Amino acid sequence: MYCTRKVTEGVTWIGGSDRRLALFENLFPIPRGVAYNSYLIQDEATAVIDTVDSSISRQFFENIQHELGDRKLDYLIVNHMEPDHCANIAELLLRYPDMKIVGNAKTFNMIQQFYGLDLKDQAIVVKEGDSISLGSRKLSFYFAPMVHWPEVMVAYEETEKILFSADAFGSFGALNGNIFNDELDFDKDWLDDARRYYGNIVGKYGLQVQAALKKLSALDIAMICPLHGPVWRENLDYLLGKYDKWSRYEPEEKAVAIFYASMYGDTENAADILAAGLAEGGVRNIAMYDVSSTHISYLISEVFRCSHLVLAAPTYNNGIYPAMANLLHDMKALMLQNRTVGLVENGSWAPVSGKLIRAELEGLKGFQVLEPVASLKSALKGDSLEQLGQLKDSILASLQG
Ligand code: FEO
Repeated sequence: MYCTRKVTEGVTWIGGSDRRLALFENLFPIPRGVAYNSYLIQDEATAVIDTVDSSISRQFFENIQHELGDRKLDYLIVNHMEPDHCANIAELLLRYPDMKIVGNAKTFNMIQQFYGLDLKDQAIVVKEGDSISLGSRKLSFYFAPMVHWPEVMVAYEETEKILFSADAFGSFGALNGNIFNDELDFDKDWLDDARRYYGNIVGKYGLQVQAALKKLSALDIAMICPLHGPVWRENLDYLLGKYDKWSRYEPEEKAVAIFYASMYGDTENAADILAAGLAEGGVRNIAMYDVSSTHISYLISEVFRCSHLVLAAPTYNNGIYPAMANLLHDMKALMLQNRTVGLVENGSWAPVSGKLIRAELEGLKGFQVLEPVASLKSALKGDSLEQLGQLKDSILASLQG
């Protein structure tokens, strides 16, 4: 049975949600599910903007069938070719064989790569700024390469000032009836997943997101329709502001996140004592994560949020404890920048993890390591306890700076 919602008089949400998928991209836990948004415009001509993931194909086709009835589908706009959005192109062609497919040159290469479809007469290949008229509405296309794949473009409908933004401005999380941002408590229920989605999926491409934001700033946008998560029709500056910060790799908050690895509890003990000292120094809402038991996507999200990080890890095989090394690897892959870091190392005979972590951080732009490194030999005592107190003071001073 169909399940759709009106976005405006002529635009309908025809997407759906998957609450069964455990791992998005077979990588990222999505305990709140995920929505795959698709939109139908009905004017003198009709257009679907992106399809959906194969997991909700049945819902998608029931939605289209209900909304279009006997009308034909004139256009499929393909803003993004990741299969969570393009999985139903071939099936849509079978159902609406006369429709034209709108994409750019890279789009059609990928359609050929994924599905072996050689579209020829059905393809409308657009360039930057090209438009198609749907009657009273007009869709213009702007390229947003690497937000999140190279072929990505966005579509702007100027009559109702709607931006169909592809992956940009999306979020993990199923839509539970409320598809508009003013129908839900975004800060409470969505912001963490929106940040986790941005940081892990698009986070590497801050430069390209900045370029897209600059391009979009020339448009008069009243509504943002992304491919995942809520549709934005109020308070757009809030969302644009978050994207601006995240893509400039500026911390969203002046806040401390402690990431520790601990084999037998001694490094964790140091993390606890440091956190308690920071709390007594007035730091609120300290976040602490065991990197061995927290999925890395949550850790990366917190790195995007917080100005001050503490990395505390044992030495392992004369290297960095693997779970901490993995976090550092991801931070480098995503090109994180501009954070202040405190280090705690441990090692029962040759503690070197602090030195090695520092060397990794030197490859990251704008990272500052505070002194001293607290260096434990097995357990906190004497010198290392003193170093930990000095590190706490350095963090407090930096937070006040
Ligand atoms: Fe939601 Fe890059 O696909």
